[in-house]
Amino acid sequence: MSAGSYELLRALVSPVVAITTRRGEELNGLIVNSALRASLSPEKLRLSIIVHKFNHSHDMIFESGVFTAHILRADQMDLVIRLGTASGRDGDKLGGMPYRLGATGAPIFDDCYAFFECRVVNAMDTGGSTFFLGAVESAGGDGSGEVMTSKHVRTGVPIENQEQYEEDLARGQRFATEMADRMRALVWRDLPRE
Ligand SMILES: Cc1cc2nc3c(=O)[nH]c(=O)nc-3n(C[C@H](O)[C@H](O)[C@H](O)COP(=O)(O)O)c2cc1C
Repeated sequence: MSAGSYELLRALVSPVVAITTRRGEELNGLIVNSALRASLSPEKLRLSIIVHKFNHSHDMIFESGVFTAHILRADQMDLVIRLGTASGRDGDKLGGMPYRLGATGAPIFDDCYAFFECRVVNAMDTGGSTFFLGAVESAGGDGSGEVMTSKHVRTGVPIENQEQYEEDLARGQRFATEMADRMRALVWRDLPRE
């Protein structure tokens, strides 16, 4: 496969979404560009996210089964840098941020385009990541302003430690390649077996 094919596939990304989660008393969040609307039903709202296994949030979502997805506005680049370029393993990323705890226990940011509180209802092992299907339990936000896309991130405020960012990305890509074929059957714990 050529490097050009990888670049072409990079066009297939969703808007930039901030995910928060909670495991016990621990709160955390990350940025994804893999969130999608995952149901046609206006009554049973669902969305999916793909989270890399090496991210701290991965195990937190896997173990707690809860997350809140926030569609961001184009002017929220500071939040993208805060949640998307550092790990909750190394410190509290949410400290000082305005949020409240939702019904699932995960944080809901005061400032966003829209938020969706989700409970995981199914999951799939992709090898290097897990695809989580979330059922929306509550939603809010006024939907005002322009939605942040990956293009805004690429052309927006430069990430301060670009070298570190590139290094982390390369490490993530190696992990994804090594793990790609190591998929295991996964039956989400809350699903009926029959
Ligand atoms: C624009 C952007 C898109 C990203 N998309 C994803 C994604 O779809 N899935 C994922 O697991 N990580 C994604 N990341 C990387 C995580 O946000 C990043 O590794 C984060 O530091 C993980 O934090 P954690 O270790 O506290 O969970 C993205 C980062 C950025 C800046």
